[in-house]
Amino acid sequence: MANDRDAQWKQSKDASLVVPTTDADFERYFDLRWRVLRAPWAQPRGSERDDREQESIHLMFRAANGDALAAGRLHFNTPFEAQVRFMAVDPRAQNCGLGSRLLEALEGRARDAGAKRIVLNARESAQRFYEQRGYCVEGPAERLFGGVDHWRMSKEI
Ligand SMILES: CC(C)(COP(=O)(O)OP(=O)(O)OC[C@H]1O[C@@H](n2cnc3c(N)ncnc32)[C@H](O)[C@@H]1OP(=O)(O)O)[C@@H](O)C(=O)NCCC(=O)NCCS
Repeated sequence: MANDRDAQWKQSKDASLVVPTTDADFERYFDLRWRVLRAPWAQPRGSERDDREQESIHLMFRAANGDALAAGRLHFNTPFEAQVRFMAVDPRAQNCGLGSRLLEALEGRARDAGAKRIVLNARESAQRFYEQRGYCVEGPAERLFGGVDHWRMSKEI
């Protein structure tokens, strides 16, 4: 397990931040979103997507072997408000800094496109992660899968 973790840590340091473009990239990108955000709650494949994928900005950290280590998405609710969704880091690569770097990159994309504010719905387990990165809780958000508490959070950028 320690070796597995060490290998993942090394992979995470060598990972590149990319926009997924090929079918293989997107397959791994969506698979990571499903494994991290849906499979633990017995949600079917396909539930890791919504109807805004085409219009969204997608970013991923890709290891040298092509594996997706981190994934995240940005879409616009209005010209000035962007929303981050589907942030997922492979469990073996968590706490290595990839989530922070991915979030910063999504924020940069939002800023470049003219957004003044970012919103997201954070599950309770991730609330502190976002607070540490300047997001404030606005109130409760929709509960997912009948049990996962989420909080609406926002940040002026
Ligand atoms: C929440 C999540 C996206 C965060 O991504 P991550 O890559 O684990 O986050 P980071 O490694 O950037 O930061 C996590 C912590 O590790 C620490 N860290 C960052 N770089 C580090 C490094 N090089 N070495 C050790 N620790 C480090 C950070 O200080 C941070 O701690 P803090 O929150 O107290 O500041 C990820 O854990 C995840 O996918 N969780 C499960 C799914 C989920 O909850 N997604 C969010 C949906 S709302």
